[in-house]
Amino acid sequence: MCGIIGVLGTHEVAPLLVESLKRLEYRGYDSAGIATINEGRLDRRRAVGKLVNLSDLLVHNPLAGKSGIGHTRWATHGAATETNAHPHRSGPVAVVHNGIIENFRELRAELAEAGIHPETETDTETVALLTRLHMDRGLPPREAAVATLKQLEGAFALLWLFEGEGDLMIAARKGSPLAIGHGDGEMFVGSDAIALAPMTCEITYLEEGDFAFVTRAGVEIFDEAGRRANRDRQVIDAGAVQVEKAGFKHFMAKEIAEQPAVLGDAINHYVKKDGLDLPEGIDFAGLDRLTLVACGTAYYACAVAKYWFENLARLPCEIDVASEFRYREPPMPAKSWAIFVSQSGETADTLAALRYCNEKVEKTLAVVNVPTSSMAREADLALPIHAGVEVGVASTKAFTCQLLSLAVLALKAGVDRGHITETQLAAHLEGLRALPGLMNTALGTADEIAGLAEKLAEAQDILFLGRGPLYPLAMEGALKLKEISYIHAEGYASGELKHGPIALIERTVPVIVFAPHDRLFDKTVSNMQEVMARHGKVLLVSDARGLREASEGTWATLKMPEVAEPFAPILYALPAQLLAYYTAVAKGTDVDQPRNLAKSVTVE
Ligand code: F6R
Repeated sequence: MCGIIGVLGTHEVAPLLVESLKRLEYRGYDSAGIATINEGRLDRRRAVGKLVNLSDLLVHNPLAGKSGIGHTRWATHGAATETNAHPHRSGPVAVVHNGIIENFRELRAELAEAGIHPETETDTETVALLTRLHMDRGLPPREAAVATLKQLEGAFALLWLFEGEGDLMIAARKGSPLAIGHGDGEMFVGSDAIALAPMTCEITYLEEGDFAFVTRAGVEIFDEAGRRANRDRQVIDAGAVQVEKAGFKHFMAKEIAEQPAVLGDAINHYVKKDGLDLPEGIDFAGLDRLTLVACGTAYYACAVAKYWFENLARLPCEIDVASEFRYREPPMPAKSWAIFVSQSGETADTLAALRYCNEKVEKTLAVVNVPTSSMAREADLALPIHAGVEVGVASTKAFTCQLLSLAVLALKAGVDRGHITETQLAAHLEGLRALPGLMNTALGTADEIAGLAEKLAEAQDILFLGRGPLYPLAMEGALKLKEISYIHAEGYASGELKHGPIALIERTVPVIVFAPHDRLFDKTVSNMQEVMARHGKVLLVSDARGLREASEGTWATLKMPEVAEPFAPILYALPAQLLAYYTAVAKGTDVDQPRNLAKSVTVE
């Protein structure tokens, strides 16, 4: 959510800044801007909308200089206008920011008393104005930035650049991640390793509360109390931060197609020949309860996992969306664990929920895709999901890898609690190992799905139905569809339809039913019959047996291979994703960067 880049370079920086912003665009695309210092003078260019508008502007109105900062925005305070676009500037100060300055109204009041009034609707401008005020009162840039920092409340990552100071950037991290990149006579600052990858793989992550003075000679880092701090320098695997479409039309298509390989890799991390291989310290034996917390797609992964923990491990399991959980302040049994699931590991609400639980439960566990993320660092234990970089704003491979990791944890819980025998475990692992092959078969339905999507694209409303662990998948299918095709969609538990939503059924409302031939199949089919009796247009997604028994009267069917019963949601996620993808393509929407959204939601 908002991307930040800064370069103290040895060549012209504008192209580098734009290249990095391209890699950061998944974090927001309402506007973009850069500021540079050329012969001591600070100047900036900003453009509303996608980064390409800024690139076009720079062709006609270039910006020279070997020092610069850049930003891609997901609007929080103030509409997506050029005035509200970053970098924000006041006199000699330019600032880019990710996050929210919560006390900006109070700070504006203080500035007003000094006769200083904002020109934008943003919270960020306050930072530039305050820094300038401190400088006007005699503080040099470093002291002015630190004095400003002390006045700020909220969660943010900030980067300053100063006129006349071509060899200085000041970075600060409180609540939103920020990484310092080390080059040869050059230094960089970025929201993540992905942004820095074209320039350097040597990275130092700032820790919570840190601020840093960056010059071409290196970086001085200080902790929140202002003490010099040593932070490790890490070498990031270049492959792990690659962001290429590799011949696909969209990142989402590539990430859907990657799933058999990525899931196979994740399985190899956790499943060894003779059993499960998980980090030390994961033991669910004596627990009274497990709590799973997340947002969006990651929450639906938790909702599937609830079935697994309860059925396979007989472990009572609560799930909640993080934005509700954190303010509900729920009582937590001492003999409980809490698991936080997040692709980015930075989602503000999930991180706050984790911090709440850190003081209350026996252990917290972060299931994340970014191993260096705040959640991974702040939880007692971390389990990486090994999905690789996910660029498409709509989560796909991270979802199936979250499911895989949670399935493995549920199996571990079943073993720890004496509900899964060695023979049963071997059978479950066989079921997991079969998944990549089955996923390949499921991907084979892509053309068929593209054909169906042409029709789905005409609908105004679409319903998704499922039972048991396929119920959360129905909700995930609906979320995926609405976020990228903008068609209204809802996911319901099949049995719940007759309690209200069935009123929506008419010829024009497609109903997509996920129903593998499992022990609940007949129940789901009964609900599907209720839909068809009211002229509902059913697309049944099932296996050969299910289709043989129940396809009569449906509008269309999609055949999935047979899959080990508990793990069906992992396989059925693929048709759900492909349906959303091809419907969006048929509608011509922006698949990878759907309107109003951003990846990595670091604000509340
Ligand atoms: C939907 C989607 C979002 C995220 C949610 C949580 O496709 O991607 O719903 O799942 O914003 O993000 P993370 O997993 O980074 O915490």
